[in-house]
Amino acid sequence: MAVIEAEYGSETYLGMLALRKRILRDPLNLEWTAEEKSWEAMERHFGCSVEERIVACLVIRSLKSGVVKLRQMAVDVDCQRSGWGRRLILEVEKVLAGESVSVIELHARETAIGFYERLGFARVGEEFLEVNIPHWKMRKSIS
Ligand SMILES: CC(C)(COP(=O)(O)OP(=O)(O)OC[C@H]1O[C@@H](n2cnc3c(N)ncnc32)[C@H](O)[C@@H]1OP(=O)(O)O)[C@@H](O)C(=O)NCCC(=O)NCCS
Repeated sequence: MAVIEAEYGSETYLGMLALRKRILRDPLNLEWTAEEKSWEAMERHFGCSVEERIVACLVIRSLKSGVVKLRQMAVDVDCQRSGWGRRLILEVEKVLAGESVSVIELHARETAIGFYERLGFARVGEEFLEVNIPHWKMRKSIS
């Protein structure tokens, strides 16, 4: 298993995009908006690969000094609940901590809250709707 950072537009990036689409967008029958797509080049794209297959991926957006947003966390269907999501987040946290990031924020689907809580994230504020489904803002301090 290797945790990799893909360059925007690369073949590996396109593999991550395809996984995100299949796991996160297709079930909701949603496409990315033009605004969402325009952000991708400015974001960082991390994933886990096994024998050249991307099994998990996520996107990191810089919000302000020391604070990032984790977005679009997706693990392939047959690999879920096997520790890939945990491995990926913990490895990305190490990279970010080495770059003086101290806080990771995210918007969690209600169905994924337990996963993020396992990884040390805590809910902040109230439930809200995003892509028409209930979400919670969550936050974790790293060092
Ligand atoms: C949610 C998701 C990212 C979790 O990744 P994963 O690789 O399946 O999770 P892991 O196997 O690393 O699980 C780590 C821990 O969280 C728990 N967990 C995993 N998914 C969970 C969930 N949906 N709810 C509650 N707990 C969960 C695991 O049981 C494990 O617990 P442990 O500490 O007792 O071992 C993945 O299942 C997924 O892509 N789901 C569909 C898309 C999605 O919901 N993405 C998040 C959008 S905000």
